[in-house]
Amino acid sequence: MPDAILRTQGLNAHHGDFQALYEVDLEVSAGEVLAIIGANGAGKTTLMRSITGLLINGPGQIQYQGQDISRLRADQVASLGLAMVPEGRQLFPSLSVRENLMIGAQVGRTGPWDLNAVYRLFPVLKERKDQASTSLSGGQQQMVAIGRALMANPDLILFDEISLGLAPIIIKDIYATLPGIIGEGMSAVIVEQDITKALSVSSRVYCLQEGRVSLESASGTVSRDEISRAYFGIE
Ligand SMILES: Nc1ncnc2c1ncn2[C@@H]1O[C@H](COP(=O)(O)OP(=O)(O)O)[C@@H](O)[C@H]1O
Ligand SMILES: [Mg+2]
Repeated sequence: MPDAILRTQGLNAHHGDFQALYEVDLEVSAGEVLAIIGANGAGKTTLMRSITGLLINGPGQIQYQGQDISRLRADQVASLGLAMVPEGRQLFPSLSVRENLMIGAQVGRTGPWDLNAVYRLFPVLKERKDQASTSLSGGQQQMVAIGRALMANPDLILFDEISLGLAPIIIKDIYATLPGIIGEGMSAVIVEQDITKALSVSSRVYCLQEGRVSLESASGTVSRDEISRAYFGIE
């Protein structure tokens, strides 16, 4: 396996007294698309928030490009080239589409992604660039959230619930842009409810169940039975 760009080892995470992740070991290879599945409340968002520095974890639990990032803040993690498309988009409602996209550029990393590149990927955002982000459809808001992450020119991009709440036709459109996003050298982690989609775009899949890794497999060979067991804990 090529070098890991991201590795968690014995990752634990808490929300107050509640432990949401238990000893999670996960590895993303450079250039890989990894899928993470799991029922509601399994800990997927907690894992994404831990990796991106929105939750602070114990030392030595998260390595990114060979560096221990467990104790870094979100802005420090972002400046290392790790970007997230968060669950629920989290756009600034008072800002225009263009201004929301520019937030991603604040980390100051150079690379192929700038406003024009994002507008080429999602032409509708160019048409709407001066409108408030709240005036857009859910699918268009997701495009803004993806574009904002790309503006940081990340080496690793995390998508938390890429298609949740979107119409099937929009989901298809967004997935059609993925090959153009995850271009040469970029790695991705995709948290996805739609298991068929998750398997079709990824090389490997992890399933979380109640805060623990219940399955790690190649996406092409995993069986429906294995997934059901890992997902629901059915024996
Ligand atoms: N801010 C929070 N405070 C308390 N509990 C939380 C918080 N965020 C998540 N949790 C709990 O942690 C568990 C994992 O949640 P989450 O990571 O959001 O799961 P998923 O993204 O897989 O649906 C759930 O039991 C959830 O209720
Ligand atoms: Mg979630």
